[in-house]
Amino acid sequence: MKAAFIERHGGPEVLKYGELPDPTAGPDTVVIDTVAASVNGADWKVRVGDYKQSTFPYVLGRDFSGVISAVGDGVQDLRIGDAVFGVCEAGQEGAYAEKIAVKAAIVAKKPDGLSHAEAAALALTGLTALSTIEDTLRLQPGETILIQGGAGGVASFAIQLAKHIGARVITTTSAANREYVRRMGADEIIDYNACDFTQVVSNCDAVFDTVGGDVAQRSFAVLKPGGRAAFIASGAQAPKPKRDDVTSLRPPVGRARRHLERIAELFQAGAIRPPEIKLYRLSEAADAHRLSESRHFRGKLVFQVR
Ligand SMILES: NC(=O)c1ccc[n+]([C@@H]2O[C@H](COP(=O)([O-])OP(=O)(O)OC[C@H]3O[C@@H](n4cnc5c(N)ncnc54)[C@H](OP(=O)(O)O)[C@@H]3O)[C@@H](O)[C@H]2O)c1
Repeated sequence: MKAAFIERHGGPEVLKYGELPDPTAGPDTVVIDTVAASVNGADWKVRVGDYKQSTFPYVLGRDFSGVISAVGDGVQDLRIGDAVFGVCEAGQEGAYAEKIAVKAAIVAKKPDGLSHAEAAALALTGLTALSTIEDTLRLQPGETILIQGGAGGVASFAIQLAKHIGARVITTTSAANREYVRRMGADEIIDYNACDFTQVVSNCDAVFDTVGGDVAQRSFAVLKPGGRAAFIASGAQAPKPKRDDVTSLRPPVGRARRHLERIAELFQAGAIRPPEIKLYRLSEAADAHRLSESRHFRGKLVFQVR
């Protein structure tokens, strides 16, 4: 199969495109002929070596959409030819390839109305947003949430989900993406280059930070007493607040078919629209990583694998 992979850690130029052996379907596993795979913020961090990954050649990529081409022993509920989407098990990658082997229990049927590129774009972003907004922050109707980094993949799903729940959504973005986050449903939009969000936002019930760095620590300032904040761009631990009347949380983002089916259900109900997508070929992985690493674009970068 053709794949985009690394043989050492480094800059975008270490991404190679070439032949690797096809995976096989072990017990309880399916092989999927990948049609689309998305670029996630974690991918360039793995590429540079932040995750201390050391087996080479190593295929990056955490989420995918495609068609099942082989089924391992013990798989009862999926068949060759099924269109599915999903996210690799935590700690595993391999979606930047024409084929991927994944445990059957963590993939879900792709809804017909969603293209493979859209399904790949919604997989890890949706899983992360659901784990954060519904399971971790337990956002309630009528609450106010600040979502940091509104134009990103996770945040644009989170904005729509929070609105679907019935919350009021404030988000931060650069001026170039103001209309985009408005279309996603944000009620109040803050241009983070023009003003300091801590000066114009206060009394929030919840914060979802997808930006990290000093934005994470400063986010505690906008919470009301008893408020809660969740962080996905500050490493494996939630940052420690400098005040003791708020809760700081790190969503677990477990892999489960249940969450993928919830993404499909929200899409079919019209609650979630796919993000803006910029398509690449696998042979252009270095270009996709350069843009991802810049952290200034909107929506999702997706490989059209076949
Ligand atoms: N399981 C997990 O824990 C998990 C899963 C998925 C993602 N993540 C992490 O979550 C983070 C977000 O990922 P992502 O893929 O959704 O997006 P991303 O690609 O990391 O971020 C891109 C977006 O961030 C915005 N942005 C950059 N700096 C900003 C700032 N100071 N204030 C507000 N917005 C800012 C950009 O908008 P502008 O162009 O308008 O600046 C751009 O739209 C990443 O760190 C990723 O690694 C964690």
